[in-house]
Amino acid sequence: MKVTVVGAGNVGATCADVLAQREIANEIVLLDIKEGFAEGKALDIWQKAPINLYDSRTIGSTNDYSKTANSDVVVITSGLPRKPGMSRDDLIATNAGIVKTVTENIIQHSPNAIIVIVSNPLDVMTYCAYLNAKVDSSKVFGMAGVLDTARYRAFLAEELNVSPKDIQAVLMGGHGDTMVPLPRYTTVAGIPVTELISTEKLDEIIERTKFGGGEIVKLLGTSAWYAPGAAAAQMVEAIVRDQKRIFPVCAWLNGEYGMKDIYLGVPVVLGKNGIEKIIELQLNTEEKALLEESAKAVKSVMDVLDNMNVNA
Ligand code: NAI
Ligand code: 2OP
Repeated sequence: MKVTVVGAGNVGATCADVLAQREIANEIVLLDIKEGFAEGKALDIWQKAPINLYDSRTIGSTNDYSKTANSDVVVITSGLPRKPGMSRDDLIATNAGIVKTVTENIIQHSPNAIIVIVSNPLDVMTYCAYLNAKVDSSKVFGMAGVLDTARYRAFLAEELNVSPKDIQAVLMGGHGDTMVPLPRYTTVAGIPVTELISTEKLDEIIERTKFGGGEIVKLLGTSAWYAPGAAAAQMVEAIVRDQKRIFPVCAWLNGEYGMKDIYLGVPVVLGKNGIEKIIELQLNTEEKALLEESAKAVKSVMDVLDNMNVNA
């Protein structure tokens, strides 16, 4: 299996490192526009192989897409990250231009690749890649829910003093402050979370999750990379190993949840064909209202992209 990661910055390099370390692909290409940057990171990851005992080959490329040819999966992380005071949406104009060019190059060299978008603003950059890839939407989707759910699960594990491994949760909606963690679908080793935690504490954790990205931006002056890189790698693993994992993924809706023509976070089955199924939960009235509010926020940024004509 061959996997390309575009953008050798914090998230891209971490993703490539996890892919190599866990031998998720035998060939990993890391590509960046900055001269020598991807080559340096790839070489460093390869030199770790004899220490950590893996044999995935990692190679770097400065904007030479011929090296990415015939990739099975491509992860796009290229673009600017947030700085303090910026929202994810502030990144739209710059990152849309980058995602468009990168997607066109990728599809030219790997027409059958499954594309996982990470660049922000996530839902809209996934839409941008879809418009430019011109392939079925089952093969173009975004990483956000795996990360946002991981944050929610980590906060719960800390509060309940249990292993994060035992916490299962579903989170839907856009990758922004309107995301919708779903307590009704959150369990701790099968026990409904509501039996183990007070409503006040759970609400606090849900609020912290919604602003989890911003919390790290405030601490670091840039956005997170360890959890995002690992989250993207986990999605790649589900695809290359045809695991049929159920993850919240930013997917193109075509009538599901009563919505059409929008990229939004929903639970899906991920396997060798990309999104193999969108799972439709029976949401209650309150959950539906929250999802619709989140969809409205995403749609307004999709409209901004449509009006910019970057996809012409
Ligand atoms: P970074 O600045 O460390 O890395 C970005 C890399 O993209 C840089 O090395 C840059 O040279 C490269 N790049 C820029 N234009 C390029 C082009 N045309 N072709 C190839 N490479 C190009 O940023 P970081 O922290 O890795 O974040 C990357 C993106 O991922 C940002 O947009 C960030 O907001 C987003 N992000 C999304 C998350 C999610 O949950 N979806 C989580 C964390 C970050
Ligand atoms: C995050 O959630 C900023 O999207 C980035 O960490």
